[in-house]
Amino acid sequence: MTRVIFHTATTLDGYLATDDDSLDWLFAVPGADEAEAAFGDFLAGVGVLVMGSATYEWMLRHEALLDAPEKWAGYYGARPTFVFSSRPLPRVPGADIRVVSGGIEAHWTSIQDAAGAGDVWIVGGGDLAGQFVDAGLLDEIRLSVAPATLGSGKPLLPRVLGADRLILRHVQRAGQFVELVYAVS
Ligand SMILES: NC(=O)c1ccc[n+]([C@@H]2O[C@H](COP(=O)([O-])OP(=O)(O)OC[C@H]3O[C@@H](n4cnc5c(N)ncnc54)[C@H](OP(=O)(O)O)[C@@H]3O)[C@@H](O)[C@H]2O)c1
Repeated sequence: MTRVIFHTATTLDGYLATDDDSLDWLFAVPGADEAEAAFGDFLAGVGVLVMGSATYEWMLRHEALLDAPEKWAGYYGARPTFVFSSRPLPRVPGADIRVVSGGIEAHWTSIQDAAGAGDVWIVGGGDLAGQFVDAGLLDEIRLSVAPATLGSGKPLLPRVLGADRLILRHVQRAGQFVELVYAVS
């Protein structure tokens, strides 16, 4: 059965990025190799990626993907990617990028079809993951908690979820990261 998983790195104080979309705090963590190995196992089970426009545009900028589009397949293979945006966005040449807008429910059948037998990876940001919570579709939250705080920035998950909705399934150390897996009910 297709599962919808929000998998992201986060700061200790619950931010995905700084206010100006920097991830320097993440790349500054030494020895990320152990966390990378676990991520490879996760990605193997993913059938489709879903992200918001800020996350997609960060990837375009950071990896210069419009000039080096082959990097996309190197990271994500041929997996379809749904990018939520109200604006037309450039597509990485050769990649299966589908820009959509509006409510999650309107696109859910297409996302499920694109996932095939794999899982749906909500890459970010936090509000988009929240829209999946609102639609009752988020099954799991997987966090790599970095040893960093920002004080402000792009929030991890700007929704109210209590212990009645979140069940801790797994805890593991990966280098300087703590990996947490929660089931969402
Ligand atoms: N720490 C990590 O591992 C990690 C993981 C993922 C992301 N990030 C970073 O965290 C930041 C996230 O940025 P963000 O919080 O702004 O989130 P985002 O989800 O990447 O982008 C938000 C934007 O997506 C569009 N959007 C969202 N839902 C939509 C909908 N239903 N219909 C149409 N458009 C919709 C809107 O912009 P428009 O309509 O104007 O396009 C919205 O402003 C980025 O800097 C990203 O690089 C970090």
